[in-house]
Amino acid sequence: MFKTIIMKKFLIISSLIIFVFACSNPDANNDAAAGSTSSSTNAKGNPSYDPDRGEGKFKDVQISEKLDEEKAARGEKVSELKCLSCHKLSDERLVGPGWKGTTVRHRADWLLNFMTNTDAMIDKDPKVQAMLEICMVRMPNQNLTDDEAFEIYEFMRKNDGVE
Ligand code: HEC
Repeated sequence: MFKTIIMKKFLIISSLIIFVFACSNPDANNDAAAGSTSSSTNAKGNPSYDPDRGEGKFKDVQISEKLDEEKAARGEKVSELKCLSCHKLSDERLVGPGWKGTTVRHRADWLLNFMTNTDAMIDKDPKVQAMLEICMVRMPNQNLTDDEAFEIYEFMRKNDGVE
């Protein structure tokens, strides 16, 4: 009897640890699940879906190497209003994954499409679905304008150390 209680506690604690750890590393987690060939996973589910670009109006977006400080500052303001209640700037999860490294994990067009076409991408993107499984909250569409999405993207780049 005593042993079973200890065992149960141990199971609960260890699953909590795995849960927190897994969610703070959405990419590592996804790589393990999807293997190195995201396109083969993709071919089974959504043959027309491009997991590198996502789905939406943005394609082959060119971003200048140097950070646009003004844009990043505007992006920070919008993020404070609409995003940072669920996202930390570190790599720690809050409700959604931390933003640190997100511009390294994803291409610009993927991020811009995800920010402006959130619902469709949650339904189709294998990386987002892996995150959803861990975070258990569906990110609500934030109704961003294209300009706001670019500003937030610039702020994310600043957060990732671009100067
Ligand atoms: C209610 C909480 C919530 C709010 C508000 C929110 N998000 Fe999210 N976000 C999530 C969750 C949860 C995920 C993980 C995917 C899922 O489960 O839908 C996510 C995932 C993301 C990702 C992918 C992260 C990665 O590294 O792969 C980005 C980028 C993102 N959100 C940007 C934004 C932006 C930009 C805003 C504000 C305009 C925002 N989020 C507002 C909850 C939220």
